[in-house]
Amino acid sequence: MLRIGLIGLGFMGRTHLDNYLRLEKEGVPIRVVALCDMDPVKLQGQATGGNIDTSSSDAVDFGRFNKYTSVADMLVKEQLDCVDITLPTFLHKEVTVQCLKHGLHVLCEKPMALNAGECEEMIKEAKENGKQLMIGQCLRFWPAYEYLKNVIENKTYGETLAGSFYRGGGTPNWGPWLLQRKKSGGALLDMHVHDTDVVNWLFGKPNAVSCQARNVIPGSGYDIVSTHYKFEDGKVINAQADWTLQGDYGFEMSFRVNFEQGNLNFSGGNLQVNPNESPGFSPELSDDQGYYFQLKYFVETLIGEYELTRIAPESTLGSIEIIEAELESAGLDGAWVSVR
Ligand SMILES: NC(=O)c1ccc[n+]([C@@H]2O[C@H](COP(=O)([O-])OP(=O)(O)OC[C@H]3O[C@@H](n4cnc5c(N)ncnc54)[C@H](O)[C@@H]3O)[C@@H](O)[C@H]2O)c1
Repeated sequence: MLRIGLIGLGFMGRTHLDNYLRLEKEGVPIRVVALCDMDPVKLQGQATGGNIDTSSSDAVDFGRFNKYTSVADMLVKEQLDCVDITLPTFLHKEVTVQCLKHGLHVLCEKPMALNAGECEEMIKEAKENGKQLMIGQCLRFWPAYEYLKNVIENKTYGETLAGSFYRGGGTPNWGPWLLQRKKSGGALLDMHVHDTDVVNWLFGKPNAVSCQARNVIPGSGYDIVSTHYKFEDGKVINAQADWTLQGDYGFEMSFRVNFEQGNLNFSGGNLQVNPNESPGFSPELSDDQGYYFQLKYFVETLIGEYELTRIAPESTLGSIEIIEAELESAGLDGAWVSVR
């Protein structure tokens, strides 16, 4: 039985909890034994905000968990196998290192950390303690994005000519840290990292980036971002993010990728495949969100004592290095900046 401690019970923590409880119900040999949040109200299961509808209809019995307001306390008192860290981004490095040092496997939410230096420390600590570290870049497990990955790898429609990726929605207002640049990295790191990581995962690191970005909300960093990624073979790849879309906009994530012999278009939650020479179609994909598959992969891999190779931390470090180049480019009014 894999014993899990969940640290941070805000929007993502609650989403992860619901998915672990589903996995428990499905018979996966895991048990969420402890919850930790500095806010006692969250430990009673009070609902939190968020931009994607991740709600589950199942009521949760919060009486069954051991509850802590301090990570150190939880680590001393519990016999855990792994932790899931869904804390604000500025705490990712510190708490990941703390838990790895304690001899636990770690799943930490995206973005991996505030900068590449912090990511390197996390990787070093995992190696030194012989423990596994995985970052929750959930789009790598999202059915439409996995479908795209397979089409690219199998060259189903030939080489990639171009790709455009997008995420946008209202300003996140459920955690005050989210709109403080030093704590969240702004939309460029917090929201746009999803697509930066997808670009890195699908095509590898680009040679250079050109990023135009602007601030709208005082103190929050870059709120609107548009980046071009330069690749050796000339494919035209860009990604945009905007978390200032108010009114009834809601939330949207989408992509359009063009190949020599067809194109894929994901928008409004629907994936459409358009081969050049035959009628378009919508493939049958699971309705489940990537969070479920990501957590299933994490726990089943640990239970099987395998390596968490689907998201190596070195690869998510690479995504943060791309983000750093994007930040530099944004500060240079979109000048091309090499990715290290
Ligand atoms: N994968 C995704 O799609 C996705 C979506 C949203 C957020 N996230 C990421 O998840 C992480 C958390 O975001 P969120 O939206 O859930 O934030 P949130 O503000 O809703 O939740 C954070 C929780 O951490 C608790 N907390 C803060 N400091 C603490 C400490 N020192 N010890 C214990 N608890 C503490 C807060 O009380 C709060 O309940 C962020 O890194 C964010 O980027 C990922």
